[in-house]
Amino acid sequence: MMTSDGGITIRTATEQDWPKIIVLNEICFVTPQTAEFTAHWQQLVSGAPPIIALDDDEVVGATMDIPMTVTVPGGASVAAAGVTAVTVAPTHRRRGILRALYTAHHTRIGESGVPLSILTASEGGIYGRFGYGPATVEATVSIDRRFAIPHPHAPDPGGVRMVHPAESRSAFTDVYDRWQAVTPGAQVRPEIVWNRIFADRESERGGGTAQFGLVHPDGYVLYRRVSGDNGSVARVDEIRTVSSDAHAALWRALLGLDLVRRVEAHLTPEDPLPYLLTDGRLVRTTSRHDELWVRIMDVAAALEARTYRRDLDVVVQVDDGFLSAGGRFALTVRDGKAVCTRTDAAPHLVLDLDVLGSLYLGAHRARTLAAANRLRAADADTLDRFDSAFGSDRDAQMGWAF
Ligand SMILES: CC(C)(COP(=O)(O)OP(=O)(O)OC[C@H]1O[C@@H](n2cnc3c(N)ncnc32)[C@H](O)[C@@H]1OP(=O)(O)O)[C@@H](O)C(=O)NCCC(=O)NCCS
Repeated sequence: MMTSDGGITIRTATEQDWPKIIVLNEICFVTPQTAEFTAHWQQLVSGAPPIIALDDDEVVGATMDIPMTVTVPGGASVAAAGVTAVTVAPTHRRRGILRALYTAHHTRIGESGVPLSILTASEGGIYGRFGYGPATVEATVSIDRRFAIPHPHAPDPGGVRMVHPAESRSAFTDVYDRWQAVTPGAQVRPEIVWNRIFADRESERGGGTAQFGLVHPDGYVLYRRVSGDNGSVARVDEIRTVSSDAHAALWRALLGLDLVRRVEAHLTPEDPLPYLLTDGRLVRTTSRHDELWVRIMDVAAALEARTYRRDLDVVVQVDDGFLSAGGRFALTVRDGKAVCTRTDAAPHLVLDLDVLGSLYLGAHRARTLAAANRLRAADADTLDRFDSAFGSDRDAQMGWAF
C-alpha cells in the first residue's frame, strides 16, 4: 500500500521502520518505552504490520491493530481488530494524517473480513466520525471500608484464599477464561498479556506495592496498596467473578482489609456491590467513563452474531459517514436469533454507525439515544421493541486495556 497526499506518504511499515515508530510513540504518549515493553507490543501487533505516515523519511504517524476475539451478547465469539497505538506527531497535527491513516487501516481491516473493530479512546471527540461508538461503561468506585457493614441478606459463602499471584497462575487464568466467555465486550487474553501481569514490574505499578491476590473457585481479585490523601488505599486492578457467591465472598475479604482506609475498584455501573451493604451510599462513584469503543465493520455479520431479548421485524438504516459499511438492513429476530440482510425497503429506524456500535454490546439504550435524536424511530412501539431487544442479560465490560 502506498498513497501520497500533500507530501505525506501512507504505507505499511517494514521491520526497519520500528525504531522510528517507537520514538513517535514515546513523544506522542509522553511515555518512555523500555526495550521489554516495546518487544511486548511488537509481539501483540505481529499479526499485521503497522500503517505509517511519512514526511520524507520521517515517520510522523502510525496506527496498528491486535487481532482479538470478543464475546458478544449471547456468548458467541467474534473476531475483532483491536486498533491501538494511534499517533500523529505533534509537528504534524490537524492536517488530515489521522484520517489518511485510518482510511488505509480500516480499508485493510474491512478486507480482512472481521466484523468488528474496537479501540479505547484517549479523547471522546475523535472517533465518532470514524463510526466508533462508546460500547462499555466503567464506574470507578471508592469505599470507605471502615463503615462498610454487610447487609443481613448478603451471602457469606467463604472460600477465599490468599495467594501470590504469579505462583497461582491458573487460579486467575481459568476464571478469566470462564468470565470472558460470558461477558459481552471481554476479549480473549493472550498468554503474553498474562505474562506481563504476573511479572508485575515496578515500572508498571503506578506507585503502588507489589500485587496481592485473592482467589475463589469462581473469582479473583488483583490489587495493590497505594497511598491516598487520608491513609492507604487498596486499589483493585482487576476483579472478575462468575458467580454471585464469588462476588460476595471476595468483596467481604476486600472490605475486611482493616489496615486500609478505602478500597477503589473499576466496576460496571450495575455491579451489585452497593446492595451487599447496609449503607449502599458508601460505594461512591468517583468517575463514570467509556472503555471499549466499537465500530461495526460488517453490519449483517455482527448483528447475526449476537442474541436478542425480544422478537423483531424491522428495517434499520445505518449511515456510515466514513466508509461503506452502512445501508439498509432487514433485521428479523426469532427466539433470540437474528437474520440480517440488505434491503431497499423503507426504514423503521435510522441511526449512524457509531450509535449502532454503542448499542451492540447492550451497555447503552436505544431509547436514551433516541431522546438525543441520535436514533430516529418510525413510532414509539418500534422504538420500545428495538430498545428492549438490544438489551443484554450480562453487563458488558472490556477484558483488558490495549
Ligand atoms: C489524536 C491524533 C491522532 C489526531 O491526529 P491528527 O492527524 O491531528 O488528526 P486529523 O488532522 O487527521 O483529524 C481527523 C479528524 O479528527 C478531528 N480531530 C483530531 N483530533 C481531535 C481531537 N483531539 N478532538 C476532536 N476532534 C479531533 C479533526 O478535526 C478531523 O476531523 P474531520 O476529518 O472530520 O474534519 C493526534 O493528535 C495524536 O497523536 N495525539 C496524541 C496521541 C493520541 O491521543 N492518540 C490516540 C490514542 S487513542
